Amino acid sequence: MSAKEKEGYAFPQGFVWGTGTSAYQVEGAWDEDGKGESIWDRFSHTPGKIANGDTGDVACDHYRLYPVDVSLAAQLNLNSYRFSIAWPRVQPDGEGAFNEAGMAFYDRLIDELLAKGITPFVTLYHWDLPQALQDQGGWGNRRVTDLFAAYAAKMVERYADRVRFWTTFNEPWCTSHLGHEYGIHAPGLKDPALTRQVAHNLLLSHGKAVQSMRAAAAGLGLTREIEIGIVLNLSITEPLRPDDPADCKLAEDAFKLDCGHYLDPLFRGVYPQVVAQGIGDLQAGDLAQIAQKLDFLGINYYFRNIATAKQGPVHPIAGQEYTQMGWEVNADSLRNLLVRVAGDYPEAPPLYVTENGAAFAESFDTNGQLMPDVRRQAYLESHISAMTRAMQSGVDVRGYFAWSLLDNFEWAEGYARRFGLVYVDFATQKRTIKASGHWFAGVAANNAL
Ligand code: FCB
Repeated sequence: MSAKEKEGYAFPQGFVWGTGTSAYQVEGAWDEDGKGESIWDRFSHTPGKIANGDTGDVACDHYRLYPVDVSLAAQLNLNSYRFSIAWPRVQPDGEGAFNEAGMAFYDRLIDELLAKGITPFVTLYHWDLPQALQDQGGWGNRRVTDLFAAYAAKMVERYADRVRFWTTFNEPWCTSHLGHEYGIHAPGLKDPALTRQVAHNLLLSHGKAVQSMRAAAAGLGLTREIEIGIVLNLSITEPLRPDDPADCKLAEDAFKLDCGHYLDPLFRGVYPQVVAQGIGDLQAGDLAQIAQKLDFLGINYYFRNIATAKQGPVHPIAGQEYTQMGWEVNADSLRNLLVRVAGDYPEAPPLYVTENGAAFAESFDTNGQLMPDVRRQAYLESHISAMTRAMQSGVDVRGYFAWSLLDNFEWAEGYARRFGLVYVDFATQKRTIKASGHWFAGVAANNAL
């Protein structure tokens, strides 16, 4: 029996199957060919910030090995590939001169993808701000919003003849909260008062960039429109005890605040009151700038949040599986999230699942052969299946990107967490497609689960 008969779900024609990476996590070449320092270079070079003292200095050496990686993507039958541009590689100081050698790298990557029939899906900001801008206050400085819009427009001018799909930001919540409140991501600040301002400035940068990018595309006289979206890690919060009204109320309030923080301004031009109150510099006209019409919304999903009025630790929940990150495996919540977002925000554009995946340690047999990563495959299968249930309920999902193509630098966790469909031996840079990768290649080829 084929997989298609077993599950009986055939995806719509043209459904996007991809994997994602981000510049700092895979490229390496952190100071080569005129690249400027990023906040992640600075952060990872600061002792004590990253597990095991790891850095992204070399990472997967994708800067050199990108042809190998693109052919791996082709072997996985992907029709799309999501990657990010490192702002300091193309504009070392985040303002002023652009770096031709850095821009030429992305020319080569894009051309290689297109030659293999793979559609590039470009992210403009996946967390690696030029350090020179951090030195001026980073995302806390409103001036950076205009600099981001100028950089975004330049990227459109350079690549939009070959790139149709653009996202402004990846997971702005991580930048504002992990980077400025908890201090576990670059720039490593613990300044709760700054957090909501940073979140606002990120959304404002997004809105300004959407406008500058559309103007740049029009200036190029492109015959077809570029498509612009944003990628959010919308956390869905569910009650620990679904029959307990107190848990349910907390979960509902958390959903409205966490998701509303981004979806309300983006699609309705308003902030939840609590959020607005936390933004020191919220100027007239900002919300109108933020609420630009978008072509798609990317949602990254790994796990759900739990709300409970009960005292004491929530995790682990008996009977639930957890990944190496300590994240609960719960595929139903992906279905619930997609249905909820589409239902609560009919104004929202079509959705993509732009990240989903799991870190599990790999094991080897006595001959040194990589053993099948059955848990990762099961994770992907159950989540893709959950996504199909949302689609069967009428949610317009256009694509699915597994995180990640390669094992890579997992931020504060360094190289100790492997999310790849392809195993990377970091000592030799040898790549080996995992069993989950072969399985995913079949799903993409059949366009069916
Ligand atoms: C997301 C990030 C991505 C990756 C996964 C595991 O929050 O966008 O870069 O690290 O988590």
